Amino acid sequence: MYVQIMTKGWKKNVSLKKFTSFQIGGKARFFSQVFSEEELKEVVAEAREKNLPIFILGGGTNILFPDQGFPGLVIQMALGDVQWLSSRVVAGAGVPLPFLVEEARKRGLSGLEWGAGIPGTLGGAVRGNAGTKQEFLSQHLEKVKALDQEKLIFREYLTQDGKFSYRQSIFKQLPQMIITSAVLKLEPANLEKIEKKMTLNFQARRKQPLDFPSAGSVFKNPSLAPAGQLIDQTGLKGKRTGKAQVSLRHANFIVNLGGARSAQVLTLIHEVEASVKDKFGVSLEREIVVVEEKEKKP
Ligand code: EPU
Repeated sequence: MYVQIMTKGWKKNVSLKKFTSFQIGGKARFFSQVFSEEELKEVVAEAREKNLPIFILGGGTNILFPDQGFPGLVIQMALGDVQWLSSRVVAGAGVPLPFLVEEARKRGLSGLEWGAGIPGTLGGAVRGNAGTKQEFLSQHLEKVKALDQEKLIFREYLTQDGKFSYRQSIFKQLPQMIITSAVLKLEPANLEKIEKKMTLNFQARRKQPLDFPSAGSVFKNPSLAPAGQLIDQTGLKGKRTGKAQVSLRHANFIVNLGGARSAQVLTLIHEVEASVKDKFGVSLEREIVVVEEKEKKP
């Protein structure tokens, strides 16, 4: 996904559409892109002083903003430092995952092949413990640094303290913690082997609807069966509300056919949840972040 780069400072009334892979969402009352930990701390402190709600945005590839937008400050994480130290890499939360995957390949380092074809930033990938069916980011993670936006102090988490499991981490449970960087531990390996693994992952994603804007899998896979299979069996594939559609290609994706509204996507999400519950007795858990509408502050 292309993320527009802006200069420092806050902007007013910024459309969130172009910052999300769904291409959906109203305007952020304020918007700021931060490039360093110090800058992030300053911006957070300023927003707290002004009593503004804060929303931390990474690559915007897993998110549904409301049509009304966000009534506070959206901070886009552009912390882009990358340091390769032998088989370790220390990278800022804003570094695109595809960049790290490709750079690791070039350096003959194995451990990120699962990320081939996965969009988004490192920070988002850590928070959601991104991965495939077989492999997750946390398996190659050493530690994470994060800013506590209430106490305005930085803290380091070793992987074993991160409560990582399938698409889950402590950072989803502690929304005050803003991931600022991570250390990944990779392994030197044969280039052919790395590339073969990457190709398999790219191929697995061909089943997915990459031709329309979306936010990836809408739901986590429950233990009964993959969400895509369950939704498919409810007959909702292809179901449309306005310009939002349950993908014909993969039932666990909702696609934006062009100009879809957030409310239309939400209607489909609710319908899918109700149908799967009704038919299989399973409550689907959302993988995408649905930002709730907030009352506008005067
Ligand atoms: N299926 C259907 N109908 C559909 C879609 C899928 O019957 O419309 C069936 C497939 O035939 C297959 C099963 O459901 O038997 C699983 O489908 P698929 O192989 O496409 O994998 P998935 O479980 O839907 C998971 C991850 C993806 C990841 C792929 C490949 C989740 C929720 N999804 O998809 O991750 O790319 O494996 O590793 O864990 C994401 O998290 O955003 C994401 C795209």
